[in-house]
Amino acid sequence: MTNIFNLPHLGYGLGLRAPHYEDILRERPDLGFFEIISENFIHAHAGYKDFLSELRQDYPFVMHGVSLSIGSTDPINQEYLHKLKNLADFLQPEWISDHLCFTGREGINTHDLLPIPYTEEALKHIAARVQIVQEILERPLVLENPSSYIDFHGSTLGEAEFIAELAKETNCGLLLDVNNVYVSAFNHGFDAKKYIDMIPTEHIVQIHLAGHKDYPDYKIDTHDRKVPDEVWELYAYTTAQKGQISTMVEWDEDIPPFAELLAEIEKAKLFIQAKAA
Ligand SMILES: [Fe+2]
Repeated sequence: MTNIFNLPHLGYGLGLRAPHYEDILRERPDLGFFEIISENFIHAHAGYKDFLSELRQDYPFVMHGVSLSIGSTDPINQEYLHKLKNLADFLQPEWISDHLCFTGREGINTHDLLPIPYTEEALKHIAARVQIVQEILERPLVLENPSSYIDFHGSTLGEAEFIAELAKETNCGLLLDVNNVYVSAFNHGFDAKKYIDMIPTEHIVQIHLAGHKDYPDYKIDTHDRKVPDEVWELYAYTTAQKGQISTMVEWDEDIPPFAELLAEIEKAKLFIQAKAA
C-alpha cells in the first residue's frame, strides 16, 4: 500500500555521516537514498553544498531534523523553519521529518528529544503547530515516534492513539522508528505489535531501524550497534502488516566502517526478499 501523499518507496538507505563521506564518494554504493541530519547542513558552507549537489545527482535524499520542538509551548522558531525551507529548496528532498517531542522551553535547547504528555490539550496544541510548519515548508511534515524513558501521569491517550489522531487531524506523514517502538514498549510495558497496528499505514513514509542498549530494567535508544534480532522481528511484523516502506538503519555513535553499515541495510533487503519468496 502506498502512502496518501504519493511519496515514493525509495528502497533501503543510510544516514549520511561524516566518517563515511570518502567511502561514499569513491564507491557510490547501491543505496536507495540518503538521510541527512538537517542541522548538519543548515549552515553549510559552499564546500558542503558542492558535496551534497554531487551526491544528489545519484541519490534521492530525505531531511531529518532534531530542533523543531513541535511539542514545546515556546513560539514556533520561524527563523529555523525558513532555514530548513532554504535547505530543502536547494536539496529537493523527498520529505522532511522531525520528532514528536519537545527539546526545551523559554528558548533553552536541551539537545534532548523529550517526551510530551498525551492529552487532548496537547493534541490540539501540536496539531495547530504542525499546520503552521506545513504551511511554511509547503509540504507534509513527517513526524517520528520517540523513544522514551518516562511518561506523564496526566496522559489520557496512548502514544500510538495520539499519533494516529494527530496524523488524521493534520494530514502529516509518519516516520515509524521500529527500534523506538521496541525500546518504549519495554520501558513502559505496552505491546509493541498492538502499537504498530494502531499507526495509520497510509501516513507512513519511512521506517528507521537501529540498535539499543539493554539494561536489566530498561533499554536505551543508543544507535551505537547492530540492529538486534528482536527489532528485526518487529520489522518483519511491521512490513507484513504495512507493506514495503522506505527503510534505513541509523548508527550515530561508535560508527563502524562503511562496509559494516552496508551489510546491515543489505540484511533489511534480504529480509524482505525472504518474506516475499
Ligand atoms: Fe529514529
